[in-house]
Amino acid sequence: MPLKSGLPRRVRVVEVGPRDGLQNQPEAIAAADKIGWIERLAAAGLEEIEGTAFVHPKWVPQLADAAEVGAKLPELVARPSALVPNRAGLDRALDAGLNRIALFTAASETFCQKNTNCSIDESLDRFAEVFAAIADRGTRTWVRGYVSTCFGCPYEGDVAVDTVVRVTEQLLQLGVDEIAISDTIGTATPAQVERVIERTASVAALEQLALHFHDTRGLALVNVWAGLRLGVTTFDAAAGGLGGCPYAPGASGNLATEDLIYFLDSLGIDTGVDLQKLVAATLWFEQRCNATFPGRVLASQRPAQ
Ligand code: HMG
Ligand code: MG
Repeated sequence: MPLKSGLPRRVRVVEVGPRDGLQNQPEAIAAADKIGWIERLAAAGLEEIEGTAFVHPKWVPQLADAAEVGAKLPELVARPSALVPNRAGLDRALDAGLNRIALFTAASETFCQKNTNCSIDESLDRFAEVFAAIADRGTRTWVRGYVSTCFGCPYEGDVAVDTVVRVTEQLLQLGVDEIAISDTIGTATPAQVERVIERTASVAALEQLALHFHDTRGLALVNVWAGLRLGVTTFDAAAGGLGGCPYAPGASGNLATEDLIYFLDSLGIDTGVDLQKLVAATLWFEQRCNATFPGRVLASQRPAQ
């Protein structure tokens, strides 16, 4: 298929379903089923999978099995990572054998406080401790930094683009390799994506920026389109369209990976992912969970009952 002009030949898809997707699931899911899903997602061609979170298990009980799931990731996934809030989380991730972590803060004070019990500046102080500990250990660790609520906050409403830019800059100064500009509650629009990416691209290289959309209002794919046209080449998604943050009321699932791959395939953009295998992986997991996941492409492929 010919490549449309102005679009990238290849896009990095970061699969966050096993972390963002599962942190918000109402029912308990066995670690073996999570591992079985991750194995199938990797076999479908997803090379970057955020497989769990080393957060406090009281805050997110759904991922209390992080040590067990995390320890399996290196043998299953080409570039596995885990979400980490602080020094204690870093130690747990490194002990599990991971050398890629994702820190997370926000562009809104109230969300940061509700989600991590600290202010934005305090979260950055925690990350400085994380980088100091990485230096002490002497292991090369790749670090992503999420900036939540870049397009709106469930508690404060509008969020200043200046704050997104300031937090992005501070994360990069700490040594973060990649910034995930995140739409925590799915309020972003293409015009906002343009404003936020144009401004953050003044402090970060475009290759350092990823876009993380929740699909609450059905605009995630049109926001991806806006990002692609601006030169962003890394997009997050969660298989099945699972996801949401327990501390962000009103957030629904992430952009479904199946929907993203279907869209990118239609543009002739290479992702390395086999859509049919991906659909089969998520249908398998859906059955294990005895649930119906929200992804639209998935729904179109689900066998009739
Ligand atoms: P805290 O209570 O302020 O922590 O929680 P603390 O530092 O005061 O420590 C209290 C106790 O917790 C201590 O134990 C620590 O050792 C322990 P004690 O001495 O009392 O026995 N502790 C830990 N234990 C295990 N793992 C740890 C850890 N840290 C401290 N990492 C904390 C602060 C950040 C830990 C807590 O608020 C937390 O875990 N929050 C996580 C919330 C979360 O996971 N939210 C969802 C993910 S973010 C998201 O979804 C957004 C994203 O997708 C992007 C987007 O869409 O916007 C990324
Ligand atoms: Mg998220």
